[in-house]
Amino acid sequence: MLLKARKLARQGVSVLLILGGLVGVASCRPGGPPKGQPEVPEMTVIPAVSFVQDIQPIFGSRCVFCHQTGASQAGLNVGLGLAYKSLVKVPSTESRLLRVAPGDPENSYLLHKLLGTHLQVGGQGEQMPLGGPPLPKDDLEKIQKWIQDGAPEN
Ligand code: HEC
Repeated sequence: MLLKARKLARQGVSVLLILGGLVGVASCRPGGPPKGQPEVPEMTVIPAVSFVQDIQPIFGSRCVFCHQTGASQAGLNVGLGLAYKSLVKVPSTESRLLRVAPGDPENSYLLHKLLGTHLQVGGQGEQMPLGGPPLPKDDLEKIQKWIQDGAPEN
């Protein structure tokens, strides 16, 4: 009984070895394109920014306590379900720009307020978030990319 078990175990091991060998051979095959053909550069996939998943949480943690129903500073409400309507294609109250001009970060007042370049585009007041440190670079890039991508309600 014990012997048989050992034999089976040995067989099992050799099966594994064979399989391992096959995998090894498969992965050793030369990977690149045949000689003479140009190598296709590796693609960097930049994931799309989601308004609901990426942008709204930024407002939720850094802006909503000043920009909400009943206390919507400068008439801007970034509460859940309200931010998109309060931002996209809506004229800014402080400048001649739109708050968010889809596809056009340079003409989106929101981004200038967050970068602190709002005075240079004819705006007023302080850099946002008021009273706090500026948003981290990551968040600024997400907002910029989202606007660049056409400010989808995704
Ligand atoms: C402590 C309160 C406070 C916080 C926090 C705050 N804001 Fe403001 N926000 C204001 C006030 C007050 C104004 C009007 C005066 C000014 O612009 O300085 C304003 C104005 C704005 C405007 C201009 C709106 C327009 O119509 O021109 C934008 C855009 C804005 N805030 C975005 C944000 C964003 C985005 C955040 C979060 C990252 C944020 N704010 C955080 C108080 C705040």
